[in-house]
Amino acid sequence: MSLKDLSKTSMNKSKRIFSGVQPSGDLHIGNYLGAIKNFVSLQKEYECFFCVVDLHAITVWQDPQQLAHKTREVTAAFIASGIDSDKNVLFSQSQVPQHAQLAWIFSCVARMGWLNRMTQFKDKAGKDKENVSVGLFSYPTLMAADILVYLATHVPVGEDQKQHLELTRDIAQKFNNDFKTDLFPVPEPLIFGEGARVMSLRDGTKKMSKSDSSDYSRIMLNDTADEIVQKIRKAKTDPHTLPANMKEAYKRPEAFNLLSIFASFNNKSTEDVVEQYAGKEFSSFKKDLADVIVDKIDPIGKEMQKLIDDKPYLDGIMKKGKEKAIYVADSVLSKVYDVVGFSKT
Ligand code: TYM
Repeated sequence: MSLKDLSKTSMNKSKRIFSGVQPSGDLHIGNYLGAIKNFVSLQKEYECFFCVVDLHAITVWQDPQQLAHKTREVTAAFIASGIDSDKNVLFSQSQVPQHAQLAWIFSCVARMGWLNRMTQFKDKAGKDKENVSVGLFSYPTLMAADILVYLATHVPVGEDQKQHLELTRDIAQKFNNDFKTDLFPVPEPLIFGEGARVMSLRDGTKKMSKSDSSDYSRIMLNDTADEIVQKIRKAKTDPHTLPANMKEAYKRPEAFNLLSIFASFNNKSTEDVVEQYAGKEFSSFKKDLADVIVDKIDPIGKEMQKLIDDKPYLDGIMKKGKEKAIYVADSVLSKVYDVVGFSKT
């Protein structure tokens, strides 16, 4: 997509996607199944902005030596998974200052009570509420700015981001009401089926996460085929054979998680997979599961590594993306400034 094409669509509210991924650790199959795999399908139908959200990453400490490298890694994952860097806008958040500018305005629109209800903040802050960064608390207002500075109408994410998107919708509506405008669309979350909530391989009641201390809890996009096989072999199960039906599967979180992961990689429903493996041994199912993960992830990991080794190529893509992103974000922000009443002198 050229700047000229963007100029035609920059204020067109029909179908535009924004989504973001943090460069805060190695990407895992939860990020892939819950988000990136869907970005790849959606690019056919929507105009897409995919962003590496480094401003969000620094709400918890990031090693400055590592951050730029991690940002390139996420960009490489987007491209290696099949996102077309010519047709979509790929960029890093910190390079488009309009995100932070709109976030400030939104922090004056959002209410303390709304942010106080965010469960992800409560989970991340835990008992250490007094000691976490202010940014971790106001994180969702920056998310709202990410989305709305492009007037995005749709946001593909995993289930864990649902509450943040509800807040984005509240902010868009309150801004429109307060300033008597229809500038912002009220964006729709796109949360898809089986991969929307991938759980830890060590504990089927806990989300698979970059921050889990155990490497065996997740499969990374850059794991080797051997590592994937090992991790699936060691994945926690229970002493029974595979569940006979969905009712039983729901009661067995580790089995349910593995069956859902298998379903998602094969674009099937968990119900069909439960039926396929009902009463079978975990050992044979785990072999099939490892095979399908290796099939899909191993080529992505290898392609990621090639791209990471070609730093000028990745940096060129990010630079082009940044220019396109600024072009759209600046025109929206300037409208916001008019609506809010900021003086131009
Ligand atoms: P992040 O970086 O934690 O995760 C990136 C995407 O991966 C999804 N995801 C999962 N999906 C299924 N199962 C899991 N275990 C799993 N873990 C992560 C996330 O839902 C997400 O879609 N706040 C966001 C980043 C962000 C953003 C945005 C997203 C910033 N601004 C604007 C959408 C729109 C986050 O921390 O994602």
